[in-house]
Amino acid sequence: MVEIYNREDDKAQPPQSFPAYASTVRRAPSQPLVRMPQTVTETSGPAGCWDELMGSAMADMTRQHKGEPLGERIIVHGQVLDENKRPVPETLVEIWQANACGRYVHLIDQHPAPLDPNFTGAGRSLTDKNGYYKFITVKPGAYPWGNHANAWRPNHIHFSVFGQSFLTRLVTQMYFPGDYLFPYDPIFNSVTDEKARARMVSTFDLENTVPDWALCFRWNIVLRGREATPLDTDEH
Ligand SMILES: [Fe+2]
Repeated sequence: MVEIYNREDDKAQPPQSFPAYASTVRRAPSQPLVRMPQTVTETSGPAGCWDELMGSAMADMTRQHKGEPLGERIIVHGQVLDENKRPVPETLVEIWQANACGRYVHLIDQHPAPLDPNFTGAGRSLTDKNGYYKFITVKPGAYPWGNHANAWRPNHIHFSVFGQSFLTRLVTQMYFPGDYLFPYDPIFNSVTDEKARARMVSTFDLENTVPDWALCFRWNIVLRGREATPLDTDEH
């Protein structure tokens, strides 16, 4: 079956060029965009074979090494929905993040904060039949990123959600409620619509916090349509 997906909602997405976020100016297209038709290439994608393609799930990022990572253990969970509020089952959800000190396992990240030998910061999982996903990880730290003087990213986790087709793939960032760095972060504020910005912020989930073990944050993700989670085209 060929499904035609909604076009991106411009109000919910950051502009291609947002001067306060310096690198967008260099990479933004200088020519008008060409609208591509949606053919079967765009409206289909892998399904039912993610384990074969990607290997088994790595949803517990605190158990990928000999010991446990340092930091505040957290559960991050939620539902992936489509624009019609239907759950997106068995879809690939990938996350990557800094460790508790705000350092990535990446050559370019030379921020003087320690790496954690027990934390890689990359995980993947599939949603269940109700579109539900769950990760166990540690809360990522804030880190400096050189965009402007004294620039620091709020705590965030990068998400890639594949969805049902190549066209519905969404790359975005999840933030934590009440972060004091929100007003100073051009990436967060490049999503200029306040309601769209709020959709990037998870909710503290006391009910699903595990006593004496881990705090919990809930974050639902909507693919495309009027309620779409803002797109993120950056690796920071
Ligand atoms: Fe980042």
